[in-house]
Amino acid sequence: MKAIDIRNKYLKFFEKHNHKIIAGASLVPANDSSVLFTPAGMHPLTPYLLGEKHPEGTRVANYQKCVRTIDIDEVGDSHHLTCFEMMGNWSLGDYFKEESIKMSFDFLTQDLNLPIEKIFVTCFEGDSDCPKDEESANIWRQAGIPENHIYFFNKKENWWGPVGNTGPCGACTEIFYDTGKEKCNANCNPSCGCGKFIEIWNNVFMEFNKKEDGTYEELAQKNVDTGLGLERAAMTFQGKDNVFEIEIFKPIMDRLAAATKLTQGDRIIADQSHRIIADHLKAAMLLIVDGVTPSNIDQGYVLRRIIRRFIRHMRKAEIDVEILESLINEYIEVLEEMYPELVKRKTMILEVLLAEKKKFMKTLVNGEKEFNKAIIRIKEQNNEILDGETVFRLYETYGFPPEITEELAQEQGIKINMENFEKLYKEHQEKSRARS
Ligand code: SER
Repeated sequence: MKAIDIRNKYLKFFEKHNHKIIAGASLVPANDSSVLFTPAGMHPLTPYLLGEKHPEGTRVANYQKCVRTIDIDEVGDSHHLTCFEMMGNWSLGDYFKEESIKMSFDFLTQDLNLPIEKIFVTCFEGDSDCPKDEESANIWRQAGIPENHIYFFNKKENWWGPVGNTGPCGACTEIFYDTGKEKCNANCNPSCGCGKFIEIWNNVFMEFNKKEDGTYEELAQKNVDTGLGLERAAMTFQGKDNVFEIEIFKPIMDRLAAATKLTQGDRIIADQSHRIIADHLKAAMLLIVDGVTPSNIDQGYVLRRIIRRFIRHMRKAEIDVEILESLINEYIEVLEEMYPELVKRKTMILEVLLAEKKKFMKTLVNGEKEFNKAIIRIKEQNNEILDGETVFRLYETYGFPPEITEELAQEQGIKINMENFEKLYKEHQEKSRARS
């Protein structure tokens, strides 16, 4: 089943269960400077989870584009993405555990036809802040989930939120799909990262507000916040073990594989770069649609970093960067069904990305030369750390964000002196400020 079909079925199911389908918010949060990007479907709903009345009532559902840069270095493996879509349904002081779990169970087993044997669930084991969630486990048992498919874990696994230091949060029950792969060892269970179990849906019972002092106060209303990662669900239900094989990414991955000049022996490196390019380019396009432009601060800086990173990976995979324009055109054609806004803003997307590419390419080749010289020097000195001065010069003169230098250095087994870079960067900023 294609991702868009899962999305449509999901919305239809919750509409049938009296939810109002609301629009997703911008990737740039409207009234919250504590995060740069919308990290989860619940984030734009925070005031309503805290008690404000939502104009559409107490049951809402939607799909929400999210960006999480915390995992940026993980992109390149089989399932991490910086930009993904989350399906969500919310009870704003309406239904709680029983109805929420039953709806999730019915959607998965009836609308998506998943066999019960494939479903595993986890519940909160309890601590001094909140008791063991036997209630959720019982609801799962009654629905037909066998005892040996129910696990209890601590806060690390079965507690969600708040976003930042304070705000709505609570125990959660997570739903996993058993891919049927062999267990990696005797203790393999849904919390194991080996890939046997894939988390597909998280139902959070948001009944607490975490306060500045770290304590939890009960909210006036009990809420439910659920999140189903669309790309990961599509990967799982399509029987793929790599998210880049789903129809959203496959055509672009094939195009990149055809464009790389790396030979068969280097294909693992190329594959990793292709995944980074596919993820980052999609993230960059959707950020541009939401009004972000490359700059040296905040959202603009992250966008710049993402763009420069995928351009560097095009070079690393020996892909001619001149294909970027046609790559963007082809990608938009693939994504159009899910994101028609990309077509409407195509001219702007092309303008921003091609201008940034041009700017970066001017200095990239010289910067790489400079970097390579520095690495030879470091290795000759038997040193394992690249000095902050070089990292700063690469940033200042060649526009290498320090993360790119770090990544390049890592590929050579070298660390960078980030602390010293930051010191030099601050001094430089203060000097520029004093001058202006
Ligand atoms: N907020 C939860 C999550 O992001 C459920 O939507 O996983």
